[in-house]
Amino acid sequence: MSAICDHVLTNAKVVTMQPGEAGYTVSQPCNIGIREGVITEISAKAIEAHQQFDCQGKLVTPGFIDCHTHLIFAGSRADEFEKRLQGVPYQEIAKQGGGILSTVRATRLASEQQLTESALPRLDGLIRTGVTSVEVKSGYGLTLNDEIKMLRAAKALEAHRKIRVTTTLLAAHALPPEFAGRADDYIAHVCETIIPMVAEENLATSVDVFCESIGFNLEQTERVFEAAKQHGLQIKGHTEQLSNLGGSALTARYAGLSADHIEYLDEAGVKAMARANTVATLLPGAFYFLKETQRPPIELLRQHKVPMAIATDLNPGTSPFADLTMMMNMACTLFGLTPEESLRGVTCHAAQALGYGNTRGQVQAGFDADLAIWDVTHPAEFSYFQGAPRLATRLVAGEFDHV
Ligand code: NIG
Ligand code: FE
Repeated sequence: MSAICDHVLTNAKVVTMQPGEAGYTVSQPCNIGIREGVITEISAKAIEAHQQFDCQGKLVTPGFIDCHTHLIFAGSRADEFEKRLQGVPYQEIAKQGGGILSTVRATRLASEQQLTESALPRLDGLIRTGVTSVEVKSGYGLTLNDEIKMLRAAKALEAHRKIRVTTTLLAAHALPPEFAGRADDYIAHVCETIIPMVAEENLATSVDVFCESIGFNLEQTERVFEAAKQHGLQIKGHTEQLSNLGGSALTARYAGLSADHIEYLDEAGVKAMARANTVATLLPGAFYFLKETQRPPIELLRQHKVPMAIATDLNPGTSPFADLTMMMNMACTLFGLTPEESLRGVTCHAAQALGYGNTRGQVQAGFDADLAIWDVTHPAEFSYFQGAPRLATRLVAGEFDHV
């Protein structure tokens, strides 16, 4: 029994990104049926539909997923960039009240609408590189109202562009100045006031913590994870970015969706993540921009079969890059990923890092019709050539977006 489709994409060469070798192999030209925003079938035979779109032999991939961004913020940190080029380290700038706290000051002064509007050019950069889903974190408000303002501004992006936005509460990003010297009190405020309210209002699906010497310690991170769990929110971590505190293993112990950055992750942490099927999200833009030298343990992640995602970490301090394919290139050149691993990193594995592993990130019957259509012949092209637009069009929930 097959009802008539809303759309059929004809003459599509598909890279499905399903598990296994075939998922990275370019198919013969075929047809993709779409009904009510979902892929119904992929077939060499004709599919009956109300509307037909001829892909003219172009490559069709799952829409790309940027599973870690700080897209919503106000102000600029160009001055800080200049300081860092003169040799002042990121941690030192943070200790002097700059860094994240400088963006917090600017973000608190901005309205929800200003935050949404100023994020649009950055979102457009991501969209040009094939993104159909983006995760956006709060974390530059650090008060109940300012965190909520950021999350609402992020969600409002969906009214301006064809995009799916997933929001994450990162109230435990930095210690706000009004809690100076009282980190435990701030964590209590996050757990007892901010998390319950955000859960109640359905403003985020996950909670994240910056578990680091310049962020929050392991014990404080666990208190936040516990509160998130009690309020039915999923867990993610900024862990092992600048040192090894054990935050990734803790994230895994709480069945976290992903542990992100992970340059300083050790084998015990890798094993913990493998047991919990927690995704390792690699952020090569931040590694590059901070001129880090400690690489994430890619070989161990492979050995233990930990899925690897790649994201921009788009933010004003450590990764000012609105370009996901550039991150694929960096993942290959800086971290040694293969182009196949890097493509999985922005499709099926990125979907898993957001809890959508069964509905997004693959071209497969039953999955969301979030697709990108490209003027590209080989799937390694995404990791290879940068800067020349190659996206023909995208579909989000089965709806076209002519770029
Ligand atoms: O993912 N590591 C912490 N947070 C961001 C940096 C944010 C900033 O510097 O504004 C990151 O790198
Ligand atoms: Fe980040």
